[in-house]
Amino acid sequence: MSDQTSRTLLLRSVRPYGEGDPVDVLVVDGIITEIGADAVTRAPDGTDTHDCDGDVLLPGFVDLHTHLREPGREDTETIASGSAAAARGGYTAVFAMANTSPPQDNQTVTDAVWRIGREVGLCDVHPVGAVTVGLAGEQLTEMGQMSSGEAQVTVFSDDGHCVHDPMIMRRALEYSAGLGVLVAQHAEEPRLTPGAVAHEGPTAARLGLTGWPRSAEESIVARDAILARDAGARVHICHASTTGTVELLRWAKAQGIRITAEVTPHHLLLDDSVLESYDGVYRVNPPLRESHDARALRDALVSGVIDCVATDHAPHAEQEKCCEFAAARPGMLGLETALPIVAALLVESGEMTWRDVARVMSSRPAEIAGLPDQGRPIEVGEPANLVVVDPDSPWTVVGEELASLSANTPYEGMEFTARVVGTVHRGRMVVRDGEIVGGGKNA
Ligand code: DOR
Ligand code: ZN
Repeated sequence: MSDQTSRTLLLRSVRPYGEGDPVDVLVVDGIITEIGADAVTRAPDGTDTHDCDGDVLLPGFVDLHTHLREPGREDTETIASGSAAAARGGYTAVFAMANTSPPQDNQTVTDAVWRIGREVGLCDVHPVGAVTVGLAGEQLTEMGQMSSGEAQVTVFSDDGHCVHDPMIMRRALEYSAGLGVLVAQHAEEPRLTPGAVAHEGPTAARLGLTGWPRSAEESIVARDAILARDAGARVHICHASTTGTVELLRWAKAQGIRITAEVTPHHLLLDDSVLESYDGVYRVNPPLRESHDARALRDALVSGVIDCVATDHAPHAEQEKCCEFAAARPGMLGLETALPIVAALLVESGEMTWRDVARVMSSRPAEIAGLPDQGRPIEVGEPANLVVVDPDSPWTVVGEELASLSANTPYEGMEFTARVVGTVHRGRMVVRDGEIVGGGKNA
């Protein structure tokens, strides 16, 4: 392809936000320059043209919570394989959590992750900086250095671990307010979860699994809301999982506290009844709760009490999952199945429109993380980070066929109706007909 063709892209017959008659969208040099029935007449010769057959066009998704495992566990995921999974899932930006090995607790590591993400070029990879050195919960990291480095880190989290010491959390929030960055909390009071592997309730009791009570999450959510209030800081709650957390978020937001929250597709869809199989693929932190929790989480996402969907994509090797339940590593794949799950639960049920999906998967997470060129409206003059969704393309999940290096999907064999068929990252089509076609590595 010449430079000219690679800079001009025409999406034919798409429906922005699933609304109205199909239109054509012309993209030049990464910017949307035309939307309309006759955009095709302005497309220069050699334009990369893609027929979308009336599919839904949304702003590219933004994932505030992804584990890419590089550096350290490149046998389970790399920045390249995770970026491919993200692009196939419709994501144009992901936040790579800090619990790598070595952890992303200093500027050298955060800048390295950022640079590799740029080289791969399938989506924007933003490293999350650790809040404490070694994620050990004792000493704050140099957040300022990481935020002023090449990666310009805007989100900090010890995810996988809770910043449980209230004085450390208080100081982290105070510094974050000064720096204009965000602390994202994995809300788990560790003194309430020793040895815990499953939601504390009738199912875990029957199966003989050590329970993880809701109070371990809710006590930290309540505490951090109050600490954020007093520090004048923002705080973000990772993977909200309980009815009580929803109530606390509603209360805190009503007080004017600057708190935001995400929910994972698995906490929206699944509950602890699946644990009857003792299959380690269902072990996750926080654990799958009860069906009323999932219902409350869905309602909270619809109403805006929970701001957005984040995947907590957590690849693990086969030997780490296919073992005794209590020995299995917590975490499940999420990037390539998020949209189909949200569509099945909330769009196909009539609870959300596609515009609402754009809010919870794209614009809200971009706002929360402070990304200026993601989650933007589909309008002339806006950056072309876009996703094409076929709302009616039934497919069956097969872990081995996912782009991730790991296969620990809890949705193996499940059928979904909606599917991501195209992803446009910075004006270039990186996924076409569901397959990776571009990116620095493969271009
Ligand atoms: O299930 C989880 N897996 N929860 C976490 O907080 C961490 C993650 C991981 O890194 O595998
Ligand atoms: Zn977590």
